[in-house]
Amino acid sequence: MNTDISALFTIFGATGDLAHRKLYPSLFRLFKKGFINENFAVIGTARREWSDDYFRDVIADSVKDLVDDQEELDRFKSHFYYISHNVNDAANYVELKKLSEQLDDKYSLNHNRIFYLAMAPEFFGTIGDMLKQNGLITQDGFSRLIIEKPFGSDLASATELNEQLARSFREDQIYRIDHYLGKEMVQNISAVRFSNMIFESLWNNKYIENIQITLSETVGVEDRGGYYDRTGALRDMVQNHVLQIIALLVMEPPMSLSGTDVRTEKIKALRSLRVYKTKKEVWDNFIRGQYTHSAAHEAYLQEPNVNPESDTETFVAGKIQVDNFRWAGVPFYIRTGKRMAQKETYIHVQFKHVSMNLFPSEDVEEVAEPNILTIHISPLEGFSLRLNTKRVGQGTEMKNIRMHQILDKETQANSPEAYERLLLDCLNGDPTNFTHWHEVEQSWRFIDQIRKVWDEQPDPIRLYESGSMGPKESYELLERDGYRWTEFNWKPKKEEI
Ligand code: BG6
Repeated sequence: MNTDISALFTIFGATGDLAHRKLYPSLFRLFKKGFINENFAVIGTARREWSDDYFRDVIADSVKDLVDDQEELDRFKSHFYYISHNVNDAANYVELKKLSEQLDDKYSLNHNRIFYLAMAPEFFGTIGDMLKQNGLITQDGFSRLIIEKPFGSDLASATELNEQLARSFREDQIYRIDHYLGKEMVQNISAVRFSNMIFESLWNNKYIENIQITLSETVGVEDRGGYYDRTGALRDMVQNHVLQIIALLVMEPPMSLSGTDVRTEKIKALRSLRVYKTKKEVWDNFIRGQYTHSAAHEAYLQEPNVNPESDTETFVAGKIQVDNFRWAGVPFYIRTGKRMAQKETYIHVQFKHVSMNLFPSEDVEEVAEPNILTIHISPLEGFSLRLNTKRVGQGTEMKNIRMHQILDKETQANSPEAYERLLLDCLNGDPTNFTHWHEVEQSWRFIDQIRKVWDEQPDPIRLYESGSMGPKESYELLERDGYRWTEFNWKPKKEEI
């Protein structure tokens, strides 16, 4: 991996929350670690009239928790410049070009440019066109575009957006962020699968009974009521993060870890998801829920900027089926929601039970249970494996144990943040952990059909109390198949984390 790569970052939406919370701290971390050093500059742009000095104060504020050397901070923020900018006004791009060229010379940036669009997608097309028409996309260095979700709200709008971007950037220049792909343990799924014979040889429908994926949050919609009410959990979490996790679990071994090879396999995996089309298929396999109030929290319908009669889902549970040779017959159960009991993301891979259990199952406290490999994504990060062993002492009674490898607090704190990893990948020209257009396309194909049935033939929205793990129908979804959500109370001992 290169260190000290030269590049000019142009951030559209530089005054926004995302830039403040994620981008500036990530750039600072990269600076502290030497990945960017003398040869970088950042132009922040947005409508507000800010001076360079004011912008630099904002940068200092956003990284304040990471500063341990004032001189280092001063050097870092001296690379930041600000231009007030109306994205529709061509004259502004002339100014942007002038400054870009000056900074190119000043910092020896080799005409390398990264354009980060931290703003609403309706401007993406215009910005792309203007950058191209005004000669900001360089031919003699690299020019890359980073964009944030949402990438469309259905297949038609995503296709339109993609066509707009394709007028100015090639697919290999576009880096679509799904921040879950920057998480340590999501990146670790492939390592665990493909470098351990004991897992990869069992990674199929002969040995796996079901897979359960939970992305639960305790927060409500916070100050995003307007966005969320138009979007709902299916589009906000399932179309991107959940389906990306499934693609990594389902895909065949890629020929190499290159962006092309990995994403080719992920696209094939997403193509093999069974698309539910009829009302019966959708109603049977997907549950939508909405949180009601509890002693501690307001109901969704009382949240600011939410339509008080809204039937937008804040929770989704679903059974996803994969129609290919490896996975036919293995259900993937997913659930995600706001205002749930825990903030926790994990995957349980439940293996089949032994074909004949020799150990007692009556009049005993613990019986042999199927093995479960748990991939802990957050807040715990690591793996654990449920195994059975004989209880110490006389007799043949069972004891369920968990072998685990959980990152300790210090390792977690020192490991790079999702945005930091992704920014560095983009600097290095590595698209592996960004979503390819065909992945987005396949995901919408799957989601659109569910949305269509919900919009045209709405099943009742299932209410759940804030602070619970979702509506009872989510439990029934698994019970029908003879399973249950493996609720998760296990934690490593305090001294181990
Ligand atoms: C975002 C969603 O993509 O992911 C948010 O828009 C959600 O609604 C967030 O809260 C969850 O991310 P994380 O990393 O906190 O699990």
